[in-house]
Amino acid sequence: MAQNWTPGSWRQKPIQQVPEYPDAAALAATEATLATYPPLVFAGEARRLKKQLANVAEGNAFLLQGGDCAESFLEHGADNIRDFFRAFLQMAVVLTYGAQLPVVKVGRIAGQFAKPRSSNVEVLDGVTLPSYRGDIINGIDFNEASRIPNPERQLDAYRQSAATLNLLRAFAMGGYANLENVHQWMLGFIKDSPQADRYRKLADRISETMNFMQAIGISAENNPSLRETDFFTSHEALLLGYEEALTRVDSTSGDWYATSGHMIWIGDRTRQLDHAHVEYFRGIKNPIGLKCGPSLTPDNLIELIDALNPANEAGRLTLICRFGHDKVADSLPKLIRAVEKEGRKVVWSCDPMHGNTITLNHYKTRPFERILSEVESFFQIHRAEGTHPGGIHIEMTGKDVTECTGGARAVTADSLSDRYHTHCDPRLNADQALELAFLLSERMKSGRDEKRLAIANA
Ligand code: TRP
Ligand code: MN
Repeated sequence: MAQNWTPGSWRQKPIQQVPEYPDAAALAATEATLATYPPLVFAGEARRLKKQLANVAEGNAFLLQGGDCAESFLEHGADNIRDFFRAFLQMAVVLTYGAQLPVVKVGRIAGQFAKPRSSNVEVLDGVTLPSYRGDIINGIDFNEASRIPNPERQLDAYRQSAATLNLLRAFAMGGYANLENVHQWMLGFIKDSPQADRYRKLADRISETMNFMQAIGISAENNPSLRETDFFTSHEALLLGYEEALTRVDSTSGDWYATSGHMIWIGDRTRQLDHAHVEYFRGIKNPIGLKCGPSLTPDNLIELIDALNPANEAGRLTLICRFGHDKVADSLPKLIRAVEKEGRKVVWSCDPMHGNTITLNHYKTRPFERILSEVESFFQIHRAEGTHPGGIHIEMTGKDVTECTGGARAVTADSLSDRYHTHCDPRLNADQALELAFLLSERMKSGRDEKRLAIANA
C-alpha cells in the first residue's frame, strides 16, 4: 500500500482548480452523505480493465476511449446514452478489424462532469461571475445563482452516473451490443456516407468474415462473446472531495479503489508532482490516466511515473497525449525515448482533440483534418520508435451536432451554429467519429501489410 496515504491526504497539499463553495459546512455534509452511498463500480471490474490495459501496454490490444467533453444534467436521457453507445461500438468494430486486435472499450461517461478552467471568472457585458466548472459544481447559465458552486449538485451527478451506468451495463450485456446488430448499423452508416466507396471495401471484408463465422456455426446465439462486450467508464477525477467520498476499501484485496468509475485520469493542468491530484491518485489501485501536454518534460514524466506507478505494473498507467497536430512531432518522441530508456510500462494513447481547438465565427471548434493529422503523426512516430500506438481518446457524441468542422459531410464554419450543443469543448459527431475509425483502420491495415512485406523481404 502507498506510504503515508489516506483517501484524504490530498487535503494537506497545494491544489489547482478548486471551486469556492460559499458554505463549507454544507459541502462537508454532502461529502458525508456521499460516503454512505454504494460504490458505482466494483473493484474487480477495475482490475479486469487493468488487465485489458496491460494487454494494450504489451502491444496486444488497442484502447478506444471516448465520450462527452462534459456530461450535462439537462441532456441526461436514454436516447443520448443509446446513440453514443451505438456510435462507439461501431467505431470499436471497425478498429478491431483494422488493428486485428481486441479493442478495450472505455467511455468518457457516467461521471465526466467536472471541468478545469483557464480563468476563475467569466466576464460578459461588464458582469463578472465565477466560471462554469461543470454540472457537478455549478450551472452553465450566466447568472449569479447558477454560477455559485452548490454541493447538492454532487448528489445529482452521483445519481445520473448510476442511472447512466445501469443502462450501459444493460446494453453491453443484454443483447444490444450484439456484433450482428453493430455490423448492420455500420452498413447503414456506409450506405449514407459520401465516402461510401472508400469504406465499402473494409466493410465488405467485415461482412465476409461475419458470414464465414456463421457458416461454420459460430453465431451470437451459441457464442456469448459475439453478443456481449466489456464496457468500462472513465472521467477526469478533478473534484477530489467527491472522489474521496467514493474511495473505498475492496474487501477481497484490502486495497483502496476509486469507485466513481473504472478508470480516472489526471488533467494536464493538475499534474504537479507535489500537489493534491497526484497525491490522491498514487494511493488508489484503479487503472489511471495522465494527460500529457506540450509543457511536460521527459524528466517530469519519469518523476510522475515514479510517483504513480512505482511497481511498474503494466495497465496501471495510460499516458494520454494531447499536443496538437503541429506540436506532436516535437513533443512525443522525446517522451517515448525517456520511457523506453527507463523501461517503464505504459499505454500510449492519443488525444487529438485538446491540442487542436481554434475559434471560428466566435465558436470554439476543431478541424477534422487536424484531428486526423495528429492521430496519423502519433502512429508514424510510434512506428519509427518501435513502440505500440496503444489507443485514442476522443470527445464525441452519438448525435448529429455541428461542433467540429470538416468530415465527409463537411461541417463548415458557417454551419457551426446549426446544432452547436456542447457544454464545453466541441465534439466529433457520430459520422465524424465513425469516419475517424475507418480512416485509422485503413492506416492500421497498411501498417500491417508493410510489416509483413518487410518480414517477407528480410
Ligand atoms: N465480445 C467481443 C468484443 O467486445 C466482440 C463484440 C461483441 C464486439 N459485440 C461487439 C466488438 C460490439 C465490438 C463492438 O470485442
Ligand atoms: Mn474537453
